[in-house]
Amino acid sequence: MMKKGGQVKESNIGFVSLVSTVVAVGGLLFGYDTAVISGAIKFLQLKFALSDIMVGWAVACLIVGAIIGTGFAGKISDVFGRKKALILAAILFTVGSILSGLANTFTLFVIARMIGGFGIGISSVQSPLYIAEIAPARIRGRLVSLNQLAVVTGIFVVYFLNLGISSYGNLAWNISTGWRWMLGFGVIPGLLFFILLLMVPESPRWLQLKGRTTEALQILKKVHGEGEAKVELETIKSTFNKERVSINQLLKPGLRGALLVGVVLAVLQQVTGINAIMYYAPEIFKQAGAGHNSSLVETVWVGIINLIFTLVSIWLIDKVGRKVLLLAGTAMMTISLAVIGYAFRSGIAGSWILIFILLYVASFAISMGPIVWLVIAEIFPNRVRAIASSIASVALWMANYLVSQTFPVLLNSIGPALTFWIFGILSAFAFLFTLKAVPETKGKSLEEIEQMWMS
Ligand code: BGC
Repeated sequence: MMKKGGQVKESNIGFVSLVSTVVAVGGLLFGYDTAVISGAIKFLQLKFALSDIMVGWAVACLIVGAIIGTGFAGKISDVFGRKKALILAAILFTVGSILSGLANTFTLFVIARMIGGFGIGISSVQSPLYIAEIAPARIRGRLVSLNQLAVVTGIFVVYFLNLGISSYGNLAWNISTGWRWMLGFGVIPGLLFFILLLMVPESPRWLQLKGRTTEALQILKKVHGEGEAKVELETIKSTFNKERVSINQLLKPGLRGALLVGVVLAVLQQVTGINAIMYYAPEIFKQAGAGHNSSLVETVWVGIINLIFTLVSIWLIDKVGRKVLLLAGTAMMTISLAVIGYAFRSGIAGSWILIFILLYVASFAISMGPIVWLVIAEIFPNRVRAIASSIASVALWMANYLVSQTFPVLLNSIGPALTFWIFGILSAFAFLFTLKAVPETKGKSLEEIEQMWMS
């Protein structure tokens, strides 16, 4: 069998880490765009005199754009290449940021956000996929998870940006102008991503898919060094020769298993409640008894913990493996959610709720956060990777839409205790599903993973 990147030289590691970091900036746009609306929404509501339903739509239209973008991402990436798909994402994100900052009617605002969402959809699936395709097996988990690190960094940075902008002027200024800056600042990461992308090479696996062997080999040499590159290329080639994988085959035994794991994990990442916390944290803390200011401070803690534990995951992921982290994380998520529900039910002090929400976020950050995107990027065969990971990501974004739309309704109808228990039960299911169905992919090359399904 082929090597696992054990002999990859430091200079090669430096190159591939740099390229992966650049591509992970896509995650920054993802985090930025999903979080920026939380600070802008109340000013938008006043500016455009929005009803409650329209407020919901102002938040959700980005997700709808992302669902559509993710759906097209696979085709775009297969036809034009991974790099061009990412460049398109950067352009759409930048244009969406400018237009949403300038919008003078609510309809224009929604269209602008959907354009941005389209870009976010593409980059959410293409950034991890590109990194998975270029990274040596030994450090692939770490490199792909840089994308998630960028997502949480984006969320964190935007929170302070929103705070800074809103405290710059009075209410009237914020209603007329403040929210425009919050959204418009997205131009900076958007352009940065665009410019940096021009310097990265195309994915060697996509080049080989298109029969551009010489170019593929050149890039593999930079990643693996002279000798190893040839071995790597032969292995990739042999899977292309053997593979008769079509979309239909994704539904036959073997690959059906891969599709099931990808889609179910994608849905579980969302229905276990992370974005109920990410999008509504201040509201939850208020329900737990916190005042307005302390609810904001507690929300900052959520961001800090998310960031720190994503780093912990990156450190561990190629050492202990995906499965162990997923099991530990989902088990801790289940326990935390059970306690949060109980605390709400019995009226226990809000500080307990804060502690267990932080524990829940930490558990998500070491497991479901980075690993689901990693699994989606690495478990599918070369020929169908782009399309299959698009399908799984569409499922993820749809589940995101479902949770973010229903959470406020659930909170006001069945109450926080039951709502968190439902998330808890789904986390327990995620634990069992991982135990039974998710294979360990640590240290395996993409072609070895492919063989696992085929056999
Ligand atoms: C999820 C996002 C979530 C973020 C929070 C990502 O992996 O896909 O929906 O907001 O993690 O850290």
